[in-house]
Amino acid sequence: MADKILVTGGTGYIGSHTVVELQASGYEVIVVDNLSNSSIDVLDNIEQISGIRPAFEQFDLADGAKTEDFFTRNKNIAAIIHFAASKAVGESVEKPLLYYRNNLVSLMNLLDCQIKYDVPNIVFSSSCTVYGQPEVLPVTEKTPRKDAESPYGNTKRVNEDILNDTIHANPQLKGIALRYFNPIGAHPSALIGELPLGVPQNLVPFITQTAAGLRDELKVFGDDYDTVDGSAVRDYINVVDLAKAHVVAINRLLQGKNKANYEIFNLGTGTGLSVLEVVTGFEKATGVKLNYKIVGRRAGDIEKIWADTTYANEELGWKAEKGTEETLLSAWNWEKRVRGIK
Ligand code: NAD
Ligand code: WQD
Repeated sequence: MADKILVTGGTGYIGSHTVVELQASGYEVIVVDNLSNSSIDVLDNIEQISGIRPAFEQFDLADGAKTEDFFTRNKNIAAIIHFAASKAVGESVEKPLLYYRNNLVSLMNLLDCQIKYDVPNIVFSSSCTVYGQPEVLPVTEKTPRKDAESPYGNTKRVNEDILNDTIHANPQLKGIALRYFNPIGAHPSALIGELPLGVPQNLVPFITQTAAGLRDELKVFGDDYDTVDGSAVRDYINVVDLAKAHVVAINRLLQGKNKANYEIFNLGTGTGLSVLEVVTGFEKATGVKLNYKIVGRRAGDIEKIWADTTYANEELGWKAEKGTEETLLSAWNWEKRVRGIK
């Protein structure tokens, strides 16, 4: 019988791509999502890609009673991948309690149930935001974490600590925190992708919406950083590559290949790209000219960050494979499909 994996936030951006990769690897998937930032239609599109409709339950993981009820009815879950969280940095500054409650309580509810209902394994979505602006680049997993720039970032840091402490106190549990750099792009089928509510805060959705005519122009935040061309540098990773790393992490836990009960891996490409390089790459990949203008820096932004991927490459045997142009083209193909552009 296939191992059963609970994917929280599985109708969301990274979760939906991971469901597809888990199914392709023969896992049985159950998705839990409260649909606060995604749509039920995603299940149809997952089914179109994989031929398998994942089981689905809609409820809020911050609700302890509902979460416990789920585990009383769903036995033999081999592992959880916990994507469900609120993730808008700006909104977290306005509504810190919403972010602390949603992101911390959801994880704590899951961990309580893991202990009570004997679910030994968890993979947690963390973020390179825990490093802030590192002194030395690229960042390894040993690079010290910094005070968070936002309540959202702080929820990732505190959740890592909650996970580490809980696993330490309960040696039957095993967990992997994956620190994502900047996930971008969409499934090559263009059936699933990133669909932000309202005005996008992240670079690539803003670029594709500008190219699609939904936004007048892209504002490039800052050209006076100490980087190749003055614009800020990030490590942009294809979402399908990222999804595949989750399957590797699950295999590692289920096959007992982990070296410690709590492990951390950076997931990036190992290469930094400036905002202007992303713009040029998008134009080259798609043939679409982008209307952009340089404006001042965005508050709270760091100058540059990219991952040292040695540990993930060697220890997980995983490597980001897709190139930037292929990835930016996939983001554009997704935007076109969503907007009905030929
Ligand atoms: P997303 O918003 O597309 O997906 C998250 C999903 O979780 C959504 O479908 C939402 O409806 C659901 N959800 C939120 N709170 C819930 C709750 N209390 N109960 C049940 N469902 C709930 O986000 P994403 O980009 O796919 O991110 C997935 C995870 O990866 C998040 O934890 C995020 O913080 C983390 N992460 C994302 C990025 C990024 O740039 N996208 C970078 C680093 C880390
Ligand atoms: C990338 C670069 C912007 C929009 C955020 C979160 C982080 C993580 C990923 C989850 C920056 C520039 C952007 C625009 C621009 N999420 N930019 N014009 O800031 O690296 O990280 O998302 O954990 O926590 O903080 O990503 O996509 O917002 O920005 O010039 O309209 O693009 O200034 O240099 P960021 P981003």
